[in-house]
Amino acid sequence: MAMTLQEFVTQLELFRLEAGRAFASAGDRAALEAARIEWLGARSGRLKQLQKALGQLPPVDRPQAGQRFHQVRQEVQQAFEAAQDRLAAQQKTAAAAELFDPTVPGLRPPLGHLHPITQTIEQLKEIMGRLGFSLADGPEVEDEWHNFEALNIPPEHPARDPLDNFYLATACQLAGGGPMLLRSQTSTVQIRVMERQKPPVRIIAVGRVYRPDTPDQTHSPMFHQIEGLMVDRHVTMADLKSVLRMLGMSYFHAQVHIRFRPSFFPFTEPSVEIDMSWQGRWIEMGGAGMVDPNVLRAVGYDPEQVSGFAFGLGIERLCMRQHGIDDIREFFRNDVRFLQQF
Ligand code: PHE
Repeated sequence: MAMTLQEFVTQLELFRLEAGRAFASAGDRAALEAARIEWLGARSGRLKQLQKALGQLPPVDRPQAGQRFHQVRQEVQQAFEAAQDRLAAQQKTAAAAELFDPTVPGLRPPLGHLHPITQTIEQLKEIMGRLGFSLADGPEVEDEWHNFEALNIPPEHPARDPLDNFYLATACQLAGGGPMLLRSQTSTVQIRVMERQKPPVRIIAVGRVYRPDTPDQTHSPMFHQIEGLMVDRHVTMADLKSVLRMLGMSYFHAQVHIRFRPSFFPFTEPSVEIDMSWQGRWIEMGGAGMVDPNVLRAVGYDPEQVSGFAFGLGIERLCMRQHGIDDIREFFRNDVRFLQQF
C-alpha cells in the first residue's frame, strides 16, 4: 500500500497516540503483553507495517519520514517501558498490603517464656551484681585437680568415691591424661578464678552440677548451684552472713534471717550449713565457710595477707521455696502445664 508522505506521517501520529493509550491503560501483565504484540510485535505488529510503508515511500521523502519514524518508535517504546514499571510497582504494593493488613485485630504471638530455674538464676545474678560480684564461669566436665585436689580433697577422701561421682571415660584420659568427671560442685570455679586472678576477688558462678543420686522429691542427679567467693584483706564470717542475708532479702522481697550451723567442708575452715528463715520457716540453703588456707596456697595466694569466704547454694531449693513447689523433678519433666505457671 503506497502512501504519500502526508499519509504516512498521519498514520505514524495515530500509531503514537493509540499505542501510548493502549500501554497506559493495560491493567495487568497479560494485557500489556497483548498490547505489545499488537503494536510493537516484530512479526506483524503495527510498527512493522509502518516500517514496510516507509520502504515504499518515494525515495526523496524517505530521509524525513525515516527520522520521524525512529522518533515515534522510541517514544512508543518508552511508553511501553513506563507501563511495565507501573505494573511492577503496583504488584509490590499489593504484596505489601497482603503482608500487613492494619485492619486485622491484634494477636498475641505464641511466645514461650523462661523456665523457672532460668528466672531464678537471672534474679540471683542481678542481685549479686548489685552487691559487686561479677560472673565467672567454668566447664561442666572437670579434672580432679579443680573438682577435688585444689579444694583440699586428697585422693583417699571419700568424696572422690567413683560411686558418688560421674567419672567419664574421655579421649583425654584414654590418651594418658588424668580422669575427668562431671563437676559435683561449682566450687571448681573458685579455683579457676583464683588461678588466673590476683586478689581481691568477688565473683559468683552459676551452673549445673552432677551427682549420682536416685531422683526423688528432693534429689536430682543434675541440679544447679550458685557459688560465691570473696577474697580480700580482712574478709570475715560477718561479711559472709551480711551478703547471704542481703541475697535472701532481695530474692524473697522480705525480711529473712540467716542461721549458721557448724559443718565440715574440706575447702573451708570454719564451715557452716546455711539456713534461712522466711515466712516463719527455715530452709537449708547450702554450705559456706572461710576459704581454707590450703586452698589459698594451692592457687598461689598468701593466707597471711588475704582471707575469704565462699558459699554454695542450691538454686532449685530457693526456687521451690519461692513458688511452693514440692517436687524437684517437676523442673525437669518439662510438662507445659507445670511450666506455664511461672
Ligand atoms: N560445694 C559445697 C557443696 O556442694 C558447698 C560449699 C561451697 C561449701 C562453698 C562451702 C563453700 O555442697
